[in-house]
Amino acid sequence: MSTAGTLGEVADLVATCTACSLAETRTQAVPGSGPAEARLVLVGEAPGAAEDHGGQPFVGRSGSLLLELLGREVGLDRSEVFITNTVKCRPPGNRDPRAQEIAACRGHLVAQLAALAPTCELVVTVGNVATRAVLGTTEGIMALRGVPRRVEGWPMPVLATIHPAAALRGGSAARALLAEDLATAGRLLGGHAA
Ligand code: URA
Repeated sequence: MSTAGTLGEVADLVATCTACSLAETRTQAVPGSGPAEARLVLVGEAPGAAEDHGGQPFVGRSGSLLLELLGREVGLDRSEVFITNTVKCRPPGNRDPRAQEIAACRGHLVAQLAALAPTCELVVTVGNVATRAVLGTTEGIMALRGVPRRVEGWPMPVLATIHPAAALRGGSAARALLAEDLATAGRLLGGHAA
């Protein structure tokens, strides 16, 4: 894991980044937010319309569900967690980010995780895109979720879970999986973290 500056420096780089064509269609880049000393880092897929408009990650419907379950299962609220995305700019029409966009943005994510590493005890990747990008695999989320994994060179474990948008679409069974994985995150952080 390389170090490439502070979270503020990464945010400044992200705000003016033109490394892929999402720079042409975004309202603004969404670098991520939260305390530099966070114990838990959440990595999502990419900003949606609400995030592109508001400049903060997970402020739409998916974010409401994710943060509600995080509070219930982990005992942490938004102000205590660093939240970011694999791709920092909204893909038009909320299409999936393309491989070349994920690759162009990877340095920003790695720099954030390096800056957060001194206090970060766990990274939770949310959905296929984040999980594959962070773990460097093409395996699907259902095979990867719920079990902490190590990434070579990173001090903190990574726990994958399903995306809250999938949980919203999938009804109570899908929500239960998200809740179960977040409860695992709570245990890995040493019990209910609040
Ligand atoms: N979905 C994500 O993956 N990230 C966001 O910030 C919002 C929705």
